[in-house]
Amino acid sequence: MNAPWPRRPRLVAGNWKMNRTASEGAALAGELRALTAAAPRARIALCPPFTALAAVNAALAGTPLLLGGQNLHAEAAGAWTGEISGSMLAAAGCRFVIVGHSERRHGLGEDDALVARKLKAAQRDGLTPIVCVGETLLEREGDRTAEVLVRQVRACYEGLDADAARATVIAYEPVWAIGTGKVASPAEAADSHRLIRATLDRVVRPGLGAEIAILYGGSVNPGNAASLFASDEIDGALVGGASLEAASFWRIVAAAG
Ligand code: PGA
Repeated sequence: MNAPWPRRPRLVAGNWKMNRTASEGAALAGELRALTAAAPRARIALCPPFTALAAVNAALAGTPLLLGGQNLHAEAAGAWTGEISGSMLAAAGCRFVIVGHSERRHGLGEDDALVARKLKAAQRDGLTPIVCVGETLLEREGDRTAEVLVRQVRACYEGLDADAARATVIAYEPVWAIGTGKVASPAEAADSHRLIRATLDRVVRPGLGAEIAILYGGSVNPGNAASLFASDEIDGALVGGASLEAASFWRIVAAAG
């Protein structure tokens, strides 16, 4: 059984997406392992592709680095060709699983209802979900950022009790900032984080928003991480491209304190 997830921890998570074979992943994890002697304050998670989980888990043994999956199926088991369940991820050593990433919402047709089911499936199987929310460029330009964030948060958190809600992490990832090199300013990110917290207060319980870690994601790199983390609203980062090299990922981890 996993230790309870602390109140609003700092977390830097690397989302490798569809990159790195098992042996490449083990090599990258090994490089990161060598850097953990520097004992960062932030918690660190790596989310490799499914096929690299076992090798990365072995390479991380004895380090404080945690493992996460990038997706799970909402059902516990059964005839779902090509899918992976939460219990399989947990058995592979995962502590986390990413749900609702925009590449799955927009590229693979996952809607709010499915993301909400995946959040519950992750918790059923003992995983801490990293719940991604964020607006597209069209939605931002149409002044619909608030509407989209409220809808996405509400769909996932309505009906959850405070303990279940607290055992999640949120990643605010504006879609226009993912993989584009266009990072949200710390002020833009902080505005969205405040809105997400206010929505949690309304939907789950007053004061709950202040207890949940909200990461920023979208073109985080060693050059912009410190200014993002300087905001009290930003509890860490979900890092894509810059997590694929040990040196750049570690500089982001170090910036988190
Ligand atoms: P990026 O990806 O850092 O490459 O923009 C972030 C993410 O999609 O989680």
